[in-house]
Amino acid sequence: MVNAPAFGSPDLFVVKAPRSGTAEAFRSLRTSLQFLPAEKTRAFAVTSAAPDEGKSVCAANLAAVLAMTGRRVLLVDADLRQPRQADLFGLGKVQGLSQFLAGACGDEAIQESGVEGLDVLASGAVPPNPAELLERPGLAAALARWTASYDHVIFDTPPLLVVTDPLVVARRTGHVIVVARAAATRDKSLQRAVALLREGGVDILGTVLNDLSAADREYGVYGDGYYQGDADHGPKDPQAPGGPQA
Ligand SMILES: Nc1ncnc2c1ncn2[C@@H]1O[C@H](COP(=O)(O)OP(=O)(O)O)[C@@H](O)[C@H]1O
Ligand SMILES: [Mg+2]
Repeated sequence: MVNAPAFGSPDLFVVKAPRSGTAEAFRSLRTSLQFLPAEKTRAFAVTSAAPDEGKSVCAANLAAVLAMTGRRVLLVDADLRQPRQADLFGLGKVQGLSQFLAGACGDEAIQESGVEGLDVLASGAVPPNPAELLERPGLAAALARWTASYDHVIFDTPPLLVVTDPLVVARRTGHVIVVARAAATRDKSLQRAVALLREGGVDILGTVLNDLSAADREYGVYGDGYYQGDADHGPKDPQAPGGPQA
């Protein structure tokens, strides 16, 4: 790879391996999102049913690839339990959302990511009461401010079937992208996650089918009535989960 920046994790495919199929699939996802009305993608959460399905990797790459088109993007690590964004962007131990919501710091905790146009608010120290912190009115007030100065505010979140935090965040943003991992996410789990979001009145922008093939590390996107995967990145794995309405 030529001229790979020094910062960040190899999982930042769109930065570290911009010519990879995975990076191309994120550009394809970006294009799909661009077909949606701008207000739907102004603020959204990225979540999934279970741990280790690729929420954090997907949120980081999507945030970066959106910033690469000249948009101003804020990525907020709202997984206050198992944060990953500071590590993915090589930010070290920094103040973040937990201190922000506790009133211990303000917008100065937002960091430049190293990708032009992309700022990151890390998770910060793991607090004893993540769900309660996220319920505080501070998040709604901050979101109103952030959406006025960024084109996209993207929240990484914990697994939906494990803790309530993602639903709290998604109800604030109103919109969500659901990640499923090919050959790992169970149909029933995905259906339950989608049902929880729908019951919460959250608009599902679409579903990302992550890690379609462990061999070529492809990402794919498939339709939820809003957009669908292209021929190269659609769901080819026979074990892949069905769509949210399945
Ligand atoms: N498409 C992928 N290809 C290869 N590894 C992946 C892919 N997506 C995620 N991973 C790996 O899977 C692990 C979990 O990803 P992560 O985004 O942290 O999951 P989650 O946030 O859902 O818990 C990480 O170690 C990451 O490197
Ligand atoms: Mg995560």
